Amino acid sequence: MLLTLAASRRVLFLGGKGGVGKTTVASAVAYAQARDGRRVLLVSTDPAHNLGHLWQCRIGPEPRPLAAGLDAVEIDPGATVKAHLGQVGDALRKLMPPHLSGEVDRHLALSRDAPGMLEAALLERIAGIVQQGLRSHDLLVFDTAPSGHTARLMALPDMMAAWTDGLLRRQARSERFGVALRNLGGDDGVAARALGEGDEARTPGDRDQAIRAMLHRRRHLFGDLRDVLADATATAFAIVLAAERLPVLETIELHASLVRAGIHVGALVVNRRSPADAGAFLAERRVQEEIHLRALREALPDIPLQQLPLLAGDVAGEAGVAAIADLLARSG
Ligand SMILES: Nc1ncnc2c1ncn2[C@@H]1O[C@H](COP(=O)(O)OP(=O)(O)O)[C@@H](O)[C@H]1O
Ligand SMILES: [Mg+2]
Repeated sequence: MLLTLAASRRVLFLGGKGGVGKTTVASAVAYAQARDGRRVLLVSTDPAHNLGHLWQCRIGPEPRPLAAGLDAVEIDPGATVKAHLGQVGDALRKLMPPHLSGEVDRHLALSRDAPGMLEAALLERIAGIVQQGLRSHDLLVFDTAPSGHTARLMALPDMMAAWTDGLLRRQARSERFGVALRNLGGDDGVAARALGEGDEARTPGDRDQAIRAMLHRRRHLFGDLRDVLADATATAFAIVLAAERLPVLETIELHASLVRAGIHVGALVVNRRSPADAGAFLAERRVQEEIHLRALREALPDIPLQQLPLLAGDVAGEAGVAAIADLLARSG
């Protein structure tokens, strides 16, 4: 079922509470799809990064091959903010008069810890990966951070697009103001000198255009991401959970916030089901799990659900991932 969903999509997100098996299931889906001949990119956006632990190798910020047809990349939110602010700083320094470069530095230092900065930088990186990945790969599988974080992130492309639109409108106004000023024989020479030797923006007109181009690029990036996320034929979200009280409650909440963000939730994966035939203790656990699953089905009756058994040992390396991929294929 999860594999059928993945096979019919270009982008698949896996989310859910910490420790339920997101990384394991994301890896297994990605592996199974690569085995079926699709070119797959597995992306971790979880700062806890256990993709590398599971695959027993180092995975970094640039895609690297994991298996035939399967590449992986780990996005580090902290490093992403640093790179993002570096780029913004370079752009600002080119656009602002040199004597304001101290202001730029101060602004960037404050921005580092500003609320939402981590998400904004992460989102820009995700948008870039989706844009490139859709060209280089057939399927992108996202192993996301625990629930709350991800739901906020899914609503963000819309907000960022609207925010950038606002900036563009303001910029258009100030551009008109600049033109009016110049027509009055205003500040041309002063502003051009203030901009220094920068090759990007020699006159206020150039500067306005450069700002506009930068905002437009971002607007397109976020707009494209929003379009991909909102397209249920291209993108689906699968929620991974354990058949326990809190994961079930979180699943219901996560589903509601994803629906609010316009994301199609295509699957529920109940991981680590206890066996009925391996002793009284596990059999009793299984009975408890059924009670929690009934609550889940009452709240979300229409979403396809797939279950995976509790395994005796941890999942590790390609062989471990392949075993889960087989289970997904069999139980689907
Ligand atoms: N079906 C399963 N049976 C046994 N152990 C599992 C199963 N699924 C996952 N695990 C183990 O549970 C731990 C957490 O899984 P992981 O995929 O890292 O969760 P998450 O990414 O949601 O935090 C890992 O040690 C993993 O090997
Ligand atoms: Mg994980």
